[in-house]
Amino acid sequence: MTEDVDLDHHGDLDLAPGLVDLAVNVRAGTPPPWLREVLAASLADVAAYPDLRPARAAVAAAHGRDPAEVLPTAGAAEAFVLLARALRPRRAVVVHPSFTEPEAALRAAGHPVERLLLAPPAHRLDPAAVPDDADLVVLGNPTNPTSVLHPHRDVAALARPGRVLVVDEAFADTVPGEPESLAARTDLPGLVVVRSLTKTWGLAGVRVGYALGPAPVVAAMAAAQPHWPLSTPALAALAACTTPQARAEAGAAARGLVAHRAALLAALPPGLVVGEPRSSFVLLRVPGGARVRAALRERGWAVRRGDTFPGLSPDHLRVAVRDPATSRAFAADLTAILDGDMPTTTSQQAAVPEEHR
Ligand SMILES: Cc1ncc(COP(=O)(O)O)c(C=O)c1O
Repeated sequence: MTEDVDLDHHGDLDLAPGLVDLAVNVRAGTPPPWLREVLAASLADVAAYPDLRPARAAVAAAHGRDPAEVLPTAGAAEAFVLLARALRPRRAVVVHPSFTEPEAALRAAGHPVERLLLAPPAHRLDPAAVPDDADLVVLGNPTNPTSVLHPHRDVAALARPGRVLVVDEAFADTVPGEPESLAARTDLPGLVVVRSLTKTWGLAGVRVGYALGPAPVVAAMAAAQPHWPLSTPALAALAACTTPQARAEAGAAARGLVAHRAALLAALPPGLVVGEPRSSFVLLRVPGGARVRAALRERGWAVRRGDTFPGLSPDHLRVAVRDPATSRAFAADLTAILDGDMPTTTSQQAAVPEEHR
C-alpha cells in the first residue's frame, strides 16, 4: 500500500476460477499458434546464456532506431524499475489516473512522486498543467485505465532539455496504425517510450517488453539491469513479434478490436462510459460500483475495480473488450443488476466462447 490507494493491485487479483475474465486486458486467444511454436523451438537453445543482440537489432529496425537506443526488458514493468534506479529526479510527476507500477517503482527507489490528476470525465492531458520544473514526467498513451488516447502533439509538448519524459505505450499497438505513438521520435529530448508484448501477443507470463530512448538513458538503464535479464524464449518472442508479418497481424487485431469495442459500447446501458475509449478496455462509472462488481461476480463476471487507481473511485469499473457475444451477455447482466434484478443464473454466459471462461 502507498498512501491512499493500493498501487500494487492489478487486474489479475480480480480474477477467480470460473469467472469470465474482463479484468485483465490481454487479447483473448493469444499467443497465436505460430508464436507458441517460436517459444517451443527456443527451448532447444536454453542451455546457452541468452544473447540480447538479435532481438535488440530487430526492435531497432522495426522502429527505425539505432540499437543503442533500444533496451529489451522483462516486460514494461522492468523498464519502470530500471528508470527509477537509473534516474535521480528532483521533481517527478506522474500523470494519473494511470497504470500504477511507474509510481510504485519510483517510490520503491526512494523518489518522492507528485501526482497530476487529469480532470474527469475526459481525463485529457493538458500539457500546461505539468509543472515547468518537473525533471521526470510519466504518462501512459493510450492510458490504462481510462482508455484515453492523447494527441501525440500534446505528449510531445512535454519533452524538453533537462527532463526525462516517459511514455508508457504498453497499449499503443491496440490502436490501428498507432497514430499517436512517439516510438520513432528521436528528435524529442529525454523521451523514453516503454512498450510491452504482453497485451497484444498474450505473453504476460513470458515477461517481455522494451524501452526506446536516448542512448545515454538506455545505457544508464542497462547498467541497472542484471546480466541476462531476458530469457531465451522471451528474446525469441521479441524478435518474432517485430517482423513485418507479425506487425501486420497486430494491426489486423487492432482493427478487429475497434469493431468489438463498438459492439460493447452499443450494448452497454447508456450513460456509464467514461470519456472516449480508444484501447482494448472501457472505463465505466456505475453508481454503487462496489455492489455492482460483487453482483457481477455472482453472475460469473470479473471486472477490474477502479478504486486502486489514483483519481478514481469505487464506482469506476474497467471492462476488457471481448467478442460481441461476450460483450452483449455481459451488458445484459449489468443491465439486469442495475435494474434491480436478483442474480439468478449464469444463463447469459452460454454465449461466452470457451477462451474467455
Ligand atoms: C499501461 C500498462 N503498462 C505496462 C504494463 C505492464 O506490462 P508488462 O506485462 O509488459 O510488464 C501494464 C500491465 O497491466 C499496463 O497496463
